[in-house]
Amino acid sequence: MPVAISNNRNRHIVLLTSTFHDSMEQDLERLRTEATSALEQVSDDTQLEDFRIKYLGRNGQLSALMKQLGSASKEDRPRLGKLANTTRGALEDLFKGKATVLAAHTESSDTPDLSLPGRRTPVGKLHPVTQIMEEICSIFASMGFSIAEGPDIELDHYNFEALNIPEHHPARDMHDTFYIGDSVLLRTHTSPMQARIMEKQQPPLRVIAPGKVYRCDSDITHTPMFQQVEGFLVDKNVSFSDLKGVLTVFLRKVFEKELDLRFRPSFFPFTEPSAEVDIACVICGGEGCRVCKKTGWIEILGSGMIDPEVFKMVGYDPEIYSGFAFGLGVERIAMLKYGIDDIRLFYENDLRFLSQF
Ligand code: PHE
Repeated sequence: MPVAISNNRNRHIVLLTSTFHDSMEQDLERLRTEATSALEQVSDDTQLEDFRIKYLGRNGQLSALMKQLGSASKEDRPRLGKLANTTRGALEDLFKGKATVLAAHTESSDTPDLSLPGRRTPVGKLHPVTQIMEEICSIFASMGFSIAEGPDIELDHYNFEALNIPEHHPARDMHDTFYIGDSVLLRTHTSPMQARIMEKQQPPLRVIAPGKVYRCDSDITHTPMFQQVEGFLVDKNVSFSDLKGVLTVFLRKVFEKELDLRFRPSFFPFTEPSAEVDIACVICGGEGCRVCKKTGWIEILGSGMIDPEVFKMVGYDPEIYSGFAFGLGVERIAMLKYGIDDIRLFYENDLRFLSQF
């Protein structure tokens, strides 16, 4: 600033005698400030070249100012010339510095910058069906059930025969079985685990058997592979009310709601009597909607008292023991719990779907 500084005699004179070199001094100072901050905004080579042309170029602002030097008085010219040169020098230095920084930046886009924070590896989650499966198992475990697993590739004997479904029984038709050989197949349900466990262990028994099952079927409510949880309890004096009690507690826990249940008479060759269990629609609460097909009820599982014929085949005395069994579809529970309307979504491995759970 051309403020009178008492020990700078020249400046003093400048202020008192002339306005020409005073304004040139100001202009140089202004140019320097403006150019310096403009250079801070420069972020690529094109902008840098524009900067050079505008401020340092032959027809640039600095040259324009320097041309005015000719009109300065003889006394002022050397000092103003020196100031102009210092300004040019300073701006050129800044310009070179910026060019170096930009060049270094371009190079480093190929070489890793070790000071950058690392990229986060996305963390996987359990599949929604696995999550529900674990929840189901832990609810039954809390009621004293132990967990057993059996083979997906099963013998005809356990899948059908031992469950009171002999060779030409019409119930075999319901199962749309994938056969692997004459007497080997992909299990169509988890019920073979009833026979497998009972033939090895004596009552009392309280077991659940979760796992994959297979049926030749595919639409919005069926996939060729799906998951079931089989449950059964065998002891003396087990009654249908025990079955109702266990299923009521279980369903209310898994849906986290005080649901109403309905036991509807049904038929399975390995239970007698048999019942299909419906719950009050979790979507509309029983009012009637698309999901429950306006009935207010949703079928959720098959169950019944274990048929005396099944007991006889594993060597239990049906006069002494009784028991109940049930089988539930895990995807069905997951669909109702999360409001999903197409079962196939579970098995398309679309991360946009899966990562929501
Ligand atoms: N296994 C039967 C099914 O898959 C369900 C069921 C299990 C029914 C146990 C009664 C008892 O349809």
